[in-house]
Amino acid sequence: MTEPSRNVELKAHDPDPGRTLERALAAGAQDHGVLRQRDTYFAVARGRLKLREEQPGGATLIAYERPDEGAERVSSYRLAPVADPEPLCDALAAAGVVAAVVVKRRHLLLWETVRIHLDDVRGLGSFVELEAVAEPGSDLSRERAQLAHLRAVLDIGDAALREGSYSDALMASAAVGEADPELVALARAAAGRAYAPYSGFPVGAALRTVDGRRYAGANVENAAYPQGQCAEASAIGALVAGGGGAIAEVVVAAPSRELCSPCGGCRQRLREFAADDAPIHLVDLERVRRTTSLAELLPLSFGPEHLAA
Ligand code: THU
Repeated sequence: MTEPSRNVELKAHDPDPGRTLERALAAGAQDHGVLRQRDTYFAVARGRLKLREEQPGGATLIAYERPDEGAERVSSYRLAPVADPEPLCDALAAAGVVAAVVVKRRHLLLWETVRIHLDDVRGLGSFVELEAVAEPGSDLSRERAQLAHLRAVLDIGDAALREGSYSDALMASAAVGEADPELVALARAAAGRAYAPYSGFPVGAALRTVDGRRYAGANVENAAYPQGQCAEASAIGALVAGGGGAIAEVVVAAPSRELCSPCGGCRQRLREFAADDAPIHLVDLERVRRTTSLAELLPLSFGPEHLAA
């Protein structure tokens, strides 16, 4: 077998693609225009395999291996042009091996030998990717230096870095199905009425009790900042005033690009009323981004039963 091609790459969430584009152009990157891409990922034994269909452009079968962890990752890949992608895709779909489909709009720029991708991924949001294409036999030090330079120029901080592939992220965000739609709607509506003039970060929370009652609350801030209250605390207050009871399901809604997860204090507040495995859905205005539980958010926790012992 021939040696695979290699590149050093990173992926980051990009809250402001317009600014990243300006910075990349100012740094001397060349604009190669906008591509529309559809990647069909197949379930395989090693690495990843996807069929990329690109407009303008053609179709390519891409097999690659890359660690999921780490900021800058070395990817080894093989490209095989595909003349007629549709029957290939149909055959693989009929065999039941399609794992995910990722659709995106990619603005492609080139800086030296680095591909800069400004990606708008359907269902996931905006990302920037840097791929430093390696010369055969390279010890990769040049490619790593290129990435470090561009990270600084484009102001890509550690917090923005993303591991895994778009298909992993999409499958994680799709694994949501079971959220109670009424509870999601209540939490979103509460977020819409939040009083958050100081942070500008509205949050809504909604709780469903084991006997089917639903309560919602919003964050309530205060000019004396420490007196502010989280949405979860407000919702728990409504639950107690409405008769109390055990919590079966929680939704936390924030119209934010980042996942809004309950703060440490609210994890403990929920612990008072919710079982370890009660689903806690973290949602934005479009979708459930993640479903978690107190078991995950607050391991080895302390609760009412410890006092009863
Ligand atoms: N906030 C919540 O209401 N719930 C959370 O889970 C995280 C943070 C609020 C508190 C504050 O009003 C604003 O978000 C910014 O921290």
